[in-house]
Amino acid sequence: MRILIVGNGGREHALLWKLMRDAPEASFFVTRPNGGMGEAAPVDLDSADVDALAAWAAANSIDLTIVGPEAPLARGITDALQACGLHVFGPTRAAARIEANKAYAKALMARAGVPTARHLAFASFAAAERHILEVGAPLVVKASGLASGKGSIVCATPQEAVAAARNMLVEGIFGDAGREVVIEEFMTGEELSVLALVDGRTAIPLLPSQDHKRLGEGDAGPNTGGMGAYAPVSIATDALMEEVRRTILEPTLAALADDEAPFRGLLYAGLMITDTGPRVVEFNCRFGDPETQAVLPLLESSLLDPLAAVAAGGSVTGLRLCWRPGSAITTVLASDGYPGSYRSGLPIQIPEELAARDDVLVFHAGTRRADGLVTAGGRVLAVTGLGPTLERAAEASRRGAETIAFEGKVFRRDIGWRELARQNKRRKESVGA
Ligand code: AMP
Ligand code: GLY
Repeated sequence: MRILIVGNGGREHALLWKLMRDAPEASFFVTRPNGGMGEAAPVDLDSADVDALAAWAAANSIDLTIVGPEAPLARGITDALQACGLHVFGPTRAAARIEANKAYAKALMARAGVPTARHLAFASFAAAERHILEVGAPLVVKASGLASGKGSIVCATPQEAVAAARNMLVEGIFGDAGREVVIEEFMTGEELSVLALVDGRTAIPLLPSQDHKRLGEGDAGPNTGGMGAYAPVSIATDALMEEVRRTILEPTLAALADDEAPFRGLLYAGLMITDTGPRVVEFNCRFGDPETQAVLPLLESSLLDPLAAVAAGGSVTGLRLCWRPGSAITTVLASDGYPGSYRSGLPIQIPEELAARDDVLVFHAGTRRADGLVTAGGRVLAVTGLGPTLERAAEASRRGAETIAFEGKVFRRDIGWRELARQNKRRKESVGA
């Protein structure tokens, strides 16, 4: 089997790692692989160059393409590959609008009765400003289009919200992605990432996980693409997951199918677990990063089989995924300055004994092989620790993160803190009881 992975970040390295275990005999190809994806053959094409990639895949007899990032999906890579008669795991351009066009996603949720923050969409700054001054803060102002995870601004005051709307609608800081903005109610609660394998109608959730979007410990500082993640999450009880399936996943998939945009691929529901139940913060049309680096190492059953089945037009009904017991925690090592500007080309040392440990996995993101391994991005590496308990997984991840060296290395030592605090509280209650 010949498998092409589109994308070269930490998420795609984790996908490659898992698929190579599922199919050791397969040949793997990756677009511009990072410094850790050396087992795969390189394809020197940009992941967003969808027509060239489709032509390359057809000419090179690729049996299955798996698309990591949202940009090629929003540009129609799935449509382009399918037009060549090829199998691809990832939604069509029409279905990818669930992530690529927030105004569309919000209207779809409203129509389908899916719980989410109340919102209005604006293309005119004057109207947006009037609305903000009328409803007051806190509010969230979001660029409607794709803005590399930087397009959502949580605003504590009306002045901040007006400034955010002005920056997007008047100054055009996100270009076309911010020509329309969604202004929504601020929701409180704990966030949960539910990633589900979807065949058009049916969703099979992977193990729920929790991301850490803020740069700093204690969830302080600016939003990033994600500084760490863990799984499983104890707030994701069977009852909650049943509610998510019934009130969020199924109605959303039915509404997409009604729009003649049936979703086949990985649907990522970013949820806020509020006092009144789970509500959608956002949908993504692809695997999460860094959630994938935490979740896939816990998956014992094949990932390749369901991905290939969905790509071939098959069903996931009745699919049972098998998870290993225990927990995983992923700590992201970032470049100093991220999510703003940062230096690249700095040498990285990864101690050899890390590779020998079976409780630590090092996934590469922004790395490159020059003379040796060097940094080449904002998020550089993702270190996943595995353990029978979350505490042990956290220790393994943190120790791995500490032993890797590069100039300006930034990471959080508190990934999983909410769950660890919950466990401590439970322990104290049971001792006190
Ligand atoms: P997004 O780009 O939509 O994923 O938003 C990035 C982050 O901003 C989310 O993970 C939340 O932490 C926060 N956020 C976005 N929308 C809301 C909302 N309506 N209420 C509270 N927090 C939000
Ligand atoms: N971890 C957030 C995302 O993948 O969008």
